[in-house]
Amino acid sequence: MEKTMAYVELCFTDFSQKAHELLAGSPWLLATASRQGKANVMTVGATGLGTAAGVHYVVEWIRPSCYSSELIEEAGAFTLNVPREGMGEAVRLCGSVSGRDQDKFAEANLTAMPSKIVPAPVIQECGIHLECRLTGIWEARPESISGSSQAYYEKSGTPPDNYHRCYFAEIVAIYADEDVARRLW
Ligand SMILES: Cc1cc2nc3c(=O)[nH]c(=O)nc-3n(C[C@H](O)[C@H](O)[C@H](O)COP(=O)(O)O)c2cc1C
Repeated sequence: MEKTMAYVELCFTDFSQKAHELLAGSPWLLATASRQGKANVMTVGATGLGTAAGVHYVVEWIRPSCYSSELIEEAGAFTLNVPREGMGEAVRLCGSVSGRDQDKFAEANLTAMPSKIVPAPVIQECGIHLECRLTGIWEARPESISGSSQAYYEKSGTPPDNYHRCYFAEIVAIYADEDVARRLW
């Protein structure tokens, strides 16, 4: 189905005031595309937002075993998409199978739409979209973490080559569907 709704551009300050509430409501969907233009989507729960030196950014904690990790590094970009109510099944599916094995857009009945700026799609069915341009990567390693982070990896039995990578990305656009913007802002 073609989306006919208009988008409302949001500024970071307005968005970030609601971000914790939105993150508590549902994990978000991170979308990427391969060089050949094939879209992929994964569920993400470990998302941080902030501002440093005047730049608004997100940090995503992603395991290198995820196909999305490869695609983010290849494209230097990704989008974050806040699911609407009733998208729980899509969130579950996109967090439980890999795009290496399945076309999750097709499986979850999601539609990839071109972004305004970055070479990664946004998800039509979601209500809010953030376009993000990769600016840096920090890799968690057994020797570089301590305390609760170290305990988490030890307890979960994560092999050292699959500790999360932190993807730092500048948020270059934020927009919401008109009805969502009207309700939240
Ligand atoms: C609720 C939920 C939250 C998740 N959050 C993350 C996350 O923040 N980082 C991560 O690496 N994997 C996370 N996952 C697991 C990935 O979504 C999952 O491994 C996915 O299959 C990766 O897809 P891909 O191989 O197509 O990239 C989460 C899964 C669920 C169900």
